[in-house]
Amino acid sequence: MESTRTLIIGLGQLGCQLINDVDKHSVEKFDLVCALDDDKSKKKVADTFGFIDFGSTNELETKVEELKIDYVILAITNASARFLNDIIYRCLKLEVKTRYVTDEHAKIDEFEYFNTPITKKNLKNLKEFKLSENDLDEKEGAVLVTGGAGYIGNHLVRDLLNDGYEVIVLDSFIFGNSALSDLRDDPRLKLINGSIENIRDVFNSVENVRYVIALAAIVGDPACSLDAKNTMIINYESTKILVEACNYYGVEKLVFASSCSVYGASLEGSYLDEESTLNPVSLYARTRIFSEKYILDNAINFSPSILRLSTVFGFSKRMRFDLVVNLFTVKAIVDKSIEIFGGNQWRPFVHCKDVAKAFKTVALADENIVRGQIYNVGDESLNFTIDQVGDLLKTILPQTSIKSTGDIDDPRNYKVKFNKIKNDLGFKTDYDLESGIKEMIQEIYKNKSLENYQDQIYSNLLTFKEFNLKN
Ligand SMILES: NC(=O)c1ccc[n+]([C@@H]2O[C@H](COP(=O)([O-])OP(=O)(O)OC[C@H]3O[C@@H](n4cnc5c(N)ncnc54)[C@H](O)[C@@H]3O)[C@@H](O)[C@H]2O)c1
Repeated sequence: MESTRTLIIGLGQLGCQLINDVDKHSVEKFDLVCALDDDKSKKKVADTFGFIDFGSTNELETKVEELKIDYVILAITNASARFLNDIIYRCLKLEVKTRYVTDEHAKIDEFEYFNTPITKKNLKNLKEFKLSENDLDEKEGAVLVTGGAGYIGNHLVRDLLNDGYEVIVLDSFIFGNSALSDLRDDPRLKLINGSIENIRDVFNSVENVRYVIALAAIVGDPACSLDAKNTMIINYESTKILVEACNYYGVEKLVFASSCSVYGASLEGSYLDEESTLNPVSLYARTRIFSEKYILDNAINFSPSILRLSTVFGFSKRMRFDLVVNLFTVKAIVDKSIEIFGGNQWRPFVHCKDVAKAFKTVALADENIVRGQIYNVGDESLNFTIDQVGDLLKTILPQTSIKSTGDIDDPRNYKVKFNKIKNDLGFKTDYDLESGIKEMIQEIYKNKSLENYQDQIYSNLLTFKEFNLKN
């Protein structure tokens, strides 16, 4: 364990008690390098404890720099508030980690979480919390799905309920909640109408769950480019709140929905894997990358995993016709024609039910395998150019006319490998493009309202445009 070069300010009773605690419990990670006290007679105390250096508080800046101090502990009990604030301000300017310790907190257990985020468990000794052991250890088997009313989310919620899990959905129901209406009477399903940007909603949702699956977001490049500030708040800043809540409650796993669009406009003709260079071409993809990194860097008290999804297709009770395969399918039925821009672009595809299966697989997998891992979700056989998708549709619905132009509407271009999820977890997709398209055709024939594919409800761009106008 690397030691932390520590400077302590104040060698009074509190400072000495802290040092004794460190010695007694042989907490090796705190290397007590220097003590500062304006009472020069305290040098003897510093020598007794074996400090390398001693000085007065006006030497703070010099000592921190010269002795390469990582951590400053303020153990001052009888100083004026003004003096104390001045020292804290100087520490902040030095950009050194600082901890102000009061009498009450001068316990060795405090050391254990100096460098960790605040968790419910490590606050258990504070009298204000008065937690019972049950409060700490009682972890239900429940799963939180943020964005559970969405295109992918409603499949996942249904799957989890079928497998006997309790499910909590945190969703702002931007597209309504009709995708979950058939499940409304299930006592194991709890719907929370709230936002992932609201700290209270997030903490209330995470409090009693074991697994968290994070799907809520502004989804897709066009919807994300409507309002950059809002996109950053929902798709990135909110991730920090979720991470903080997962650390605080010590959930078992957080599985986060990212996207293969992080690979963006790949120049390499070869297949990309999880180690490949990222080349995002949109704010949406950037917010996925920022969130991935934040989660992996800050998951202290839970196991994080990231799933980079291929472009999803297939029928869902919350239908999206702003996804290329779905749009082509409905247009082939309704208009009997489709337009293709940039038909040479490669894209991996995956069915929405297979995505739901992937989330479940990773959430329930052995933590030692999935902790800190990024997985592409899809199958190598599902890499297609946009032209190939058009050709397939024409074979299924031969009356379709295809207008192809060389213009590139969307610069994303990538072929992706999926060996990692297959090898680590035995994950296989159940749907190919043809079976997914045929299923969609049946559903559109059954439900004529789906033919109104230009309706705002099927488009994330149009729905968020309207939503932003109202809010
Ligand atoms: N569909 C795809 O092709 C695809 C591809 C790659 C990654 N993904 C990722 O999968 C996840 C789910 O995508 P989807 O296709 O189901 O999208 P979707 O738009 O159908 O679902 C998103 C859900 O999140 C909810 N939501 C949005 N903002 C919210 C907020 N502030 N608070 C709470 N809920 C909010 C919406 O109401 C909706 O129910 C997203 O994170 C997306 O980035 C999707």
